[in-house]
Amino acid sequence: MNPLERIFLLLSILPFACFSQEISHPDAFPGAIILQLPERNEAQLKKLTLEEAHLQCTSWRVAVEANNLSPWKTIPEDCADYVKEYMTGNVYEFDLQRVYNEAGIYARSVNLNGDGKDAWIFDVDETLLSNLPYYAEHGYGLEMFNSTKFDQWVETGTAPAVESSLKLYEEVLSLGFKVILLTGRSERHRGITVENLLRAGFREWDKLILRSSEDHGKTATVYKSDKRNELVEEGYRILGNSGDQWSDLLGSSMSKRSFKLPNPMYYIP
Ligand SMILES: *[C@@H]1O[C@H](CO)[C@@H](O)[C@H](O)[C@H]1NC(C)=O
Repeated sequence: MNPLERIFLLLSILPFACFSQEISHPDAFPGAIILQLPERNEAQLKKLTLEEAHLQCTSWRVAVEANNLSPWKTIPEDCADYVKEYMTGNVYEFDLQRVYNEAGIYARSVNLNGDGKDAWIFDVDETLLSNLPYYAEHGYGLEMFNSTKFDQWVETGTAPAVESSLKLYEEVLSLGFKVILLTGRSERHRGITVENLLRAGFREWDKLILRSSEDHGKTATVYKSDKRNELVEEGYRILGNSGDQWSDLLGSSMSKRSFKLPNPMYYIP
């Protein structure tokens, strides 16, 4: 019996205890029924467990998005169904839409200089282009990342647009921002990446920056910081940055505002 239960029990027997000489110890009192929990049948217990599992995975996802779990390699096995449901149901879409709404409000509020140096940076994978068709075949992040297999997918050039990002992209362009694409993809995938971007509806950008040979071996945070430093040296003012990884957004020469898109499937340091 925990202390709280003990207090309840004492309170419940107190009126009787005043008139009874038999009670020497509260635990001996037979009438402690108010402490009994309602009995649950098996189905109810199972449901509770599923609900609890769902809440545990929601809690895990919040920790992922808040960057409290870094680094992590694969999604927890117990959350495999949860992540699948999140990605393919409405919630991922709602979360993307929310980021898009806030980024749009901010973009419209910025007074641009208009000298061609007002920049908005976009990451590519899981930001402009969706690799969901690939991850659907690989457990939505349950399988350990395999770069050979992923490259084969990239080389098909068939990744669809993240719709909300395409809307933001068009909006920031029409507002007069210069769009810069900064991706962890390798320089050798430039051709197919351009082809894929055009196919998905992204038509105009100032720069498409990919990892060159000297960038290999750097973490994404360092590589992207280096590239942002260079942009700032070139005179760009980085006013907005959209990415699904914290490594797209954190480091040096950070954007005035950063917008983190949801991604519970993988983590890039
Ligand atoms: C990655 O995938 C390739 C091609 O399917 C396979 O040959 C290789 O063994 C895989 N690597 C790992 C570490 O699983």
